[in-house]
Amino acid sequence: MSSIGIIGAGEIGGAIARQLARLHIAATLSNSRGPESLRELVATLGPTITAGTREEAASKDIVFVSVGWLRLPAALGGLPDFGGRIVVDTNNPMQRPPLPPIDVGGRASSSIVAEMVPGARLVKAFNHHFERNMAAHPARDGGRRVLFYAGDDVAAKATVGALIERLGFFGVDMGDIEVGSRTFQAPGGPLIAHNFVRTDP
Ligand SMILES: NC(=O)c1ccc[n+]([C@@H]2O[C@H](COP(=O)([O-])OP(=O)(O)OC[C@H]3O[C@@H](n4cnc5c(N)ncnc54)[C@H](OP(=O)(O)O)[C@@H]3O)[C@@H](O)[C@H]2O)c1
Repeated sequence: MSSIGIIGAGEIGGAIARQLARLHIAATLSNSRGPESLRELVATLGPTITAGTREEAASKDIVFVSVGWLRLPAALGGLPDFGGRIVVDTNNPMQRPPLPPIDVGGRASSSIVAEMVPGARLVKAFNHHFERNMAAHPARDGGRRVLFYAGDDVAAKATVGALIERLGFFGVDMGDIEVGSRTFQAPGGPLIAHNFVRTDP
């Protein structure tokens, strides 16, 4: 079983931790203020989720990154080379409304994040639902909530896809970063923020 770290313990990082905790999957959760500041949150999540430093979270086999777009350089700066480990980019180039979206010059935002995590095999996922849907049980709405994912490394995508399925979501491989990830990147991606649910065919 791959070890899991989460950098960012806010709405989405916390929602991911909650989904992992539901299945008793171990993960190290981190933020900018240090493990002590996460004591209350991890107590609500159960014994498999522990608070750690950013560096501890970043050392795991699968590292979720879930900080605001403008916080990414600080959250990822100075970390060692990822050496082929997996980074899951849950971020969008957005700020909280009414602040405007961030101009990424027409690029797939995950290609910019990839440049901040040298040596990582990056998969974009867990970024296209509102927090309330990302945190909810994947079977709440009468089927399995759909989670899109995209990446350039087939094996990394398979690993993340398997985790998505294990959590009870219906994973859909959208292809690569350049084309596929744009379809569910906010703002602009046509698949963003819809609560798609897969029912039995
Ligand atoms: N909220 C949503 O509904 C939603 C939906 C889809 C996608 N997203 C995307 O998900 C990402 C996270 O959004 P969010 O709403 O979860 O943000 P959030 O609630 O503001 O939480 C951000 C988290 O990042 C941590 N952080 C910031 N700088 C850090 C650093 N240098 N090192 C370690 N941790 C750091 C913060 O820790 P401290 O509090 O200690 O600073 C906080 O735990 C964003 O890119 C957003 O676009 C959000």
